[in-house]
Amino acid sequence: MKASGSGALCDLPSVGRWEFGGFAYGTEPLVLPGVGEPDGPTVPSPAVDYTGSCRHLAALGRRGLLIPEVAPCESPEELFWFRWLTGHQVCFIVWRLIAQLVDDLAEDRRSSAEALPLISRYVDGYSVMLLYTGSCPPHLYNALIRPSMRRRHRAFSGAWAPDYWPIRDLFRRGRLPVSDDADRGELHDAIRLLHLIHDGVAARLVADGRSLLRESAVRGPGHGPAGLIYDAYFTTLRAPVTRHEVVAQLLRRLVAIAQDVAANGLYAADDTIRTAELRAAEVTKFESGLVDILHGVAQQACDLPSPLLPSSGHGGGMSR
Ligand code: HEM
Repeated sequence: MKASGSGALCDLPSVGRWEFGGFAYGTEPLVLPGVGEPDGPTVPSPAVDYTGSCRHLAALGRRGLLIPEVAPCESPEELFWFRWLTGHQVCFIVWRLIAQLVDDLAEDRRSSAEALPLISRYVDGYSVMLLYTGSCPPHLYNALIRPSMRRRHRAFSGAWAPDYWPIRDLFRRGRLPVSDDADRGELHDAIRLLHLIHDGVAARLVADGRSLLRESAVRGPGHGPAGLIYDAYFTTLRAPVTRHEVVAQLLRRLVAIAQDVAANGLYAADDTIRTAELRAAEVTKFESGLVDILHGVAQQACDLPSPLLPSSGHGGGMSR
C-alpha cells in the first residue's frame, strides 16, 4: 500500500487497544484493486506474521463480552455509522476473496473439494456482516443512513456494488464453474441462509422492505457511474494493492468489529425489533457465533494452517 500512499491503513492490528480510524468507532477509507484486476505485484519483503491479529480475534470471541477493550460508544449515530461503513467494506473484501476462488475453479487452480468449503466460509462471513450492518435501530436507519444514500442518488442500490458483480450469478442462481457431481450442499445452505438474513434485515429496517431503487421514480445511472457513486459513498478507492494489503485491511476491520461487539453487543438494549427471518433458530445460532465466524474468515484469508489456532466450530464446519 505504501506505493499508493496509504501506509498506516495496512498496519496489522496489535493486541488490546482500539487502533482503527485513529479513535474508537472512527472509520477508514478502503483501498482495493479494480474489480476483476489481480492483486498488485508483491515486492520481496520479510514474511508477514498474521498470527497475532488472528489470536486477538479468537480471544475476543472467547472472552470479549467479559473483558471489553474499549468503552461502549456513547453516540448511537457514530456507532451505527461506523458499522454501516465498516461492515460494508468487509463485504467488499469478502466478495473479492470469493470471486478469486471462483476464478481459481474456472482456471483449474483449485479443485471443487478444496474451493467450495472455502467459499462457504466466506459466504458465512458475508451473512454475519449483514447482521452486523443491519443491527442499526430502524428509526436511526430511516433518519440517518437511508437519507445519506438517497442524497448520493435517489435510486441508490446494493445492486450497484462493483465487487458484487463477478459473483452475482453465484448468489442469484448458484452458478459455479464446477461439474454437476461436486458436493455443493454446504455452499447451498450458506447461500440460502444469506438470503434469509438479507430479507430479514431489509424487512427490519424498512417497513415494506422496498429499496430506494424500487421506491424511486428515476432510473439508475449506467453501470460505470453507479459503481463510482457506490464506491465513493463507502469511501472505497481503487489502486493496485497487494494481497497482503487486502488481507491486512480486512484484519484491521475484523478486530475493530469484534472489539465493538464486545463493548456494545450486537443490538441496542432498547431495540427489540426482529423479523420472523431473524428469529429463526438458524439465524440466532449464527448471531451468537458472530465473532467466531469472523475469526474463521480471518484465519482463512491469512492462509493460516488450521492447527495453529483453536477451531471456532463455526464457518465452514458449522451445522445449520
Ligand atoms: C445490511 C446491509 C445490506 C447489504 C450488504 C446489502 C447488499 C445487497 C446486494 C449486494 C444487493 C444486490 C443483489 C443482486 O443484485 O443480486 C442487494 C439488493 C437489494 N437489497 Fe440489500 N443489502 C443490505 C441492506 C438492505 C436493506 C436495509 C434493504 C431494505 C430496503 C435492502 C433491500 C434490497 C433490495 C430490495 C434489493 C434488490 C435490488 C434493489 O431493489 O435495490 N437491502 N442488497
